[in-house]
Amino acid sequence: MSIITDEENNYKKVDINKTKNDIVKPETIESDRKFENTIRPKNFEAYIGQSALKETLKITIAAAKKREQPLDHLLFYGPPGLGKTTLAGVIAEQMGVDIKITSAPALERPRDIIGILMSLKGGEILFIDEIHRLNKIAEEILYPAMEDFYLDMTTGKGQTVKTLRLPIPKFTLIGATTKAGALSGPLRDRFGIIHRLEFYTEDELAEVITRTAGILNISIDNDGAHAIAKRSRGTPRIANRLVKRVADFALVKADGKITQKIANNALNTLKIDNCGLDTTDRNLLMLIVEKYNGGPVGIETLAAALGEDVRTLEDVCEPYLLQAGLLQRTPRGRMVTPYALDHLGIKNSNISIQGSLF
Ligand SMILES: Nc1ncnc2c1ncn2[C@@H]1O[C@H](COP(=O)(O)OP(=O)(O)O)[C@@H](O)[C@H]1O
Ligand SMILES: [Mg+2]
Repeated sequence: MSIITDEENNYKKVDINKTKNDIVKPETIESDRKFENTIRPKNFEAYIGQSALKETLKITIAAAKKREQPLDHLLFYGPPGLGKTTLAGVIAEQMGVDIKITSAPALERPRDIIGILMSLKGGEILFIDEIHRLNKIAEEILYPAMEDFYLDMTTGKGQTVKTLRLPIPKFTLIGATTKAGALSGPLRDRFGIIHRLEFYTEDELAEVITRTAGILNISIDNDGAHAIAKRSRGTPRIANRLVKRVADFALVKADGKITQKIANNALNTLKIDNCGLDTTDRNLLMLIVEKYNGGPVGIETLAAALGEDVRTLEDVCEPYLLQAGLLQRTPRGRMVTPYALDHLGIKNSNISIQGSLF
């Protein structure tokens, strides 16, 4: 696989969490970069979970191979850290083709996208991460390329302007986004296949953890893996990060082996609670409870009060809080759930949810 621009390294990500304890943030953080590629599954066998998606993809791939055609363009969406980039690599491996990896913020100028499209070879996969951030011009260059494998180029100015149709080899575009809703309609319509990645179950995460521990020569037992899995927010990237941190703890405080007890001690020390929430998440929930009587309250208000960016709350914190049943999204804003009150250890008799006491 040839990675011409690695999405994690080649553009600046706005790191709003830099000053915070970002160990349970699903986005890539500095310490992930060194080892993320060594533990990334390279084929379907090693890619854990997402079984329904994997089955459909295997069939699509087999059919494309039989027809000797490139795969249809694919769009993956879902919260960060669930395996979108990894899956693109797995597909390339299964198709037996090369993959070029880039991300929308790296395609700012028309010549960036034209350059990359012209460099593609027949059948190759082009992976564009954060595809909802493509600008209008780049999108318009992409349309004919995706549809008819042509580039429409204009040369000259004013009276002498000429349009040129340049054929490019047939390729497969794989787009990934954390915000399917932010993708423009015409772009979304040009993807033949659209799939959502789901959060992982505890068992699946325990499997991810055991696999990673094996690669990194970390000794861990089954209960230890489950203890970490429980607090990994359904996200393999976080599971991998936690297993490394807990391994350090095990080495210093014990004989190096991760057991349930060691894992729980280490995670408590890291202030990650038994739902995988860190202080930012708990602060968010507490704020809604204490200042807004459980909600509803607008996301902008919450972001301002927490000194967080709206995008971070929406894309990074919220998906898991919603999935875990701790937070609810209503037309009038965010609300905590009875389960959240329970989790925070708050007596709920004074809190009304949607006007009714519970
Ligand atoms: N299904 C999976 N099985 C095992 N490990 C996974 C899986 N999905 C993701 N990972 C691990 O999690 C990390 C983050 O995955 P990535 O594909 O970069 O997520 P995304 O692109 O959705 O943000 C990778 O380093 C990979 O090792
Ligand atoms: Mg990614």
